[in-house]
Amino acid sequence: MRIIVTKSYEEMSKMAARIFAGQLYVKPASVLGLATGSTPLGLYKELIALYQSSRLDFSEAVSFNLDEYIGLKREDVQSYHYFMKENLFSKVNIRPENIYIPRGDAPDIQRECQLYDSLIAQKGGIDLQVLGIGRNAHIGFNEPDDKFEVKTHKVCLKEETIKANARFFANPAAVPHYAISMGIKTIMQAKKILLLANGKAKAEAIYETVCGGVCPSVPASILQLHCDVDIILDEAAASLLPNDLCKFN
Ligand code: GLP
Repeated sequence: MRIIVTKSYEEMSKMAARIFAGQLYVKPASVLGLATGSTPLGLYKELIALYQSSRLDFSEAVSFNLDEYIGLKREDVQSYHYFMKENLFSKVNIRPENIYIPRGDAPDIQRECQLYDSLIAQKGGIDLQVLGIGRNAHIGFNEPDDKFEVKTHKVCLKEETIKANARFFANPAAVPHYAISMGIKTIMQAKKILLLANGKAKAEAIYETVCGGVCPSVPASILQLHCDVDIILDEAAASLLPNDLCKFN
């Protein structure tokens, strides 16, 4: 794991954008694993700016999102489909047919999950996976559990996740209780992983992820076993880490 501590959210986002852009320069037809939540918004803004100044081209890229709420239609403003369209896809030149997000309104959720895994495999697996992290160290919607869920699967969201994500909903009672999430194996099979975290609320999850044992009650801890992970933090998210583990930027 390479842990890079930056001075601010903006610096974290810029650093992430450099790594992301590097991936697309080296391999324009990259398969990108994308995340939602407030954390990657700065990264997406940087990517849009790079695209607008003709320094980034998504025309050959393929993307797979980590997760989606079950029960929301794609056009629902709270859906991750909508989030991605608003915050990235409608502002860069990625081809609509190259965008994959699990369908939360699929009639057969189990089939949707299987289909998603086979599509990822068919496209050759993920080259670069962007991750945020939940306060309980979930990645995608892989919640703390007594085992690591391997494949794309249906998740019953934890109370704390529902509460944390309620801030995005006009009516907090409307947060879905179920989601589809890419599994841990699919995430771990990504060739490179970029985990971003900012703010004090993430400091404990980051400490457990990096310094604790690998166990499914801290889903992100599995990343200790991946051979190419960059964790980019702001100072607040890194505040519980020993300095000798970090590279300061
Ligand atoms: C959601 C998403 C995760 C994300 C997490 C953190 O639960 N499914 O992929 O990492 O929220 O969100 P935020 O970045 O808003 O703190």
